[in-house]
Amino acid sequence: MSSPLTLSTERLILRQWQISDAEPFAQMSADPKVMNMLLGPIDAQASAAMQQKIMAQILENGWGFWALALKETQEFIGFTGLNRPNAELPFSPCVEIGWRLAFAHWGKGYATEAAKAALAFGFNHLKLTEIVAFTALSNHPSQAVMQRLGMQREPQNFMHPKVPAGHPLQAHCLYRLSQSAWRREG
Ligand SMILES: CC(C)(COP(=O)(O)OP(=O)(O)OC[C@H]1O[C@@H](n2cnc3c(N)ncnc32)[C@H](O)[C@@H]1OP(=O)(O)O)[C@@H](O)C(=O)NCCC(=O)NCCS
Repeated sequence: MSSPLTLSTERLILRQWQISDAEPFAQMSADPKVMNMLLGPIDAQASAAMQQKIMAQILENGWGFWALALKETQEFIGFTGLNRPNAELPFSPCVEIGWRLAFAHWGKGYATEAAKAALAFGFNHLKLTEIVAFTALSNHPSQAVMQRLGMQREPQNFMHPKVPAGHPLQAHCLYRLSQSAWRREG
């Protein structure tokens, strides 16, 4: 068990989740706009279970999919961070970077800003040699975040093992960023 680490950016705090995040997270989880590329909305119980799982991982490792709060108001707006996927993927083992924001907070640069802090943590503190990101081929907003971070797309796509066979979201693209490329690009 490690004490959870908090990161800070110009506008955001990346922190351990709080019980009070459950309600705004459930609202996000029920929003078809947010969950469109994630196999659709989930109910409050499934949202709470996901929150519990993320909280436990942060408690165990000190890092994970941190809750995002606006510095100015402390409002919870979603999550961004690092994770070891539990699915067996063609490029496992790996550490992924991921993000999910409430719809009202899209289009403000928050995901990219938080992800930059998570990348710096992964490379400087965890000393990772590489961080990956992956998403459904049709998830262009998420791929745009990957590109803004300087991640490079692999030519080979893959079928996500947790998405039902034949589902339109099954085909995923993979982006990679090595520590050396991240340092080069500054
Ligand atoms: C993926 C997701 C986080 C991307 O959100 P986003 O708002 O597009 O990305 P950012 O927070 O980095 O914001 C970038 C946008 O803010 C704009 N922006 C506005 N003010 C800005 C500022 N001060 N600084 C930087 N960018 C700013 C940028 O121009 C960009 O706009 P554009 O998309 O029109 O070019 C969001 O779509 C989401 O939560 N989707 C649902 C969950 C999901 O699919 N997660 C990924 C699963 S793999």
